[in-house]
Amino acid sequence: MKSSISILSSDNRLEYINELNYTNCNYIHVDVMDGKFVPGTQFSDNEVKAINYVSNKLLDIHLMVDDPIKYINKYKEYNIKYITFHLECGKDIDRIIDKIHKFGYKAGISIKPGTNIDKIEKYLPKVDLVLVMSVEPGKGGQKFIKDTINKVKHLRDIVDKNKYDVVIEVDGGINNDTAKLVPYADMVVIGSYILNGNNRYEYQRYINKVIDK
Ligand code: DX5
Ligand code: ZN
Repeated sequence: MKSSISILSSDNRLEYINELNYTNCNYIHVDVMDGKFVPGTQFSDNEVKAINYVSNKLLDIHLMVDDPIKYINKYKEYNIKYITFHLECGKDIDRIIDKIHKFGYKAGISIKPGTNIDKIEKYLPKVDLVLVMSVEPGKGGQKFIKDTINKVKHLRDIVDKNKYDVVIEVDGGINNDTAKLVPYADMVVIGSYILNGNNRYEYQRYINKVIDK
């Protein structure tokens, strides 16, 4: 299983990325918030630019914003693998997916814990990733919502049955135990579990060993 490390709760994000550069994590997860879709505001344009410069891992951008296109326009020619936006933003979904692809990135669609998988089914032939939120979007350090387990399994069934080329990512409250509850996912986001560890570098190596099984 792949890991995308959330730097949201770090108080020195660039220094943290310097540490993560030396680990075997796959991506750096950047939680962009506009203060509208979620209450908080996170990751200024300059900060994303600096992160893009410092990181030697590709970025996994998670847009918790009302107007995804406005943000995508700011990230031209960055070292980005995925840009993921929320179905619940209420905008023209096909247009957003096309825009991300036009910039040369993989497109992800995310759903909040209260949104059912059937709402995104029609976009599965077009997207490259589905991010299933296992906490309410907005902040790190929350408890994993167990309903996510069945949602991920259901999504796995649909993806496999139709042979869609889609990565399933789970985000929120992931630790050594909850990662094992979502074996049907391809990738997990890990935030506070690593940051709160006593030795972050060893912890990072450890979790990759665990979730690699
Ligand atoms: C929540 C964010 C998550 C969060 C994960 O809104 O999307 O990416 O940073 O952090 P943990 O692992 O602490 O739940
Ligand atoms: Zn996230």
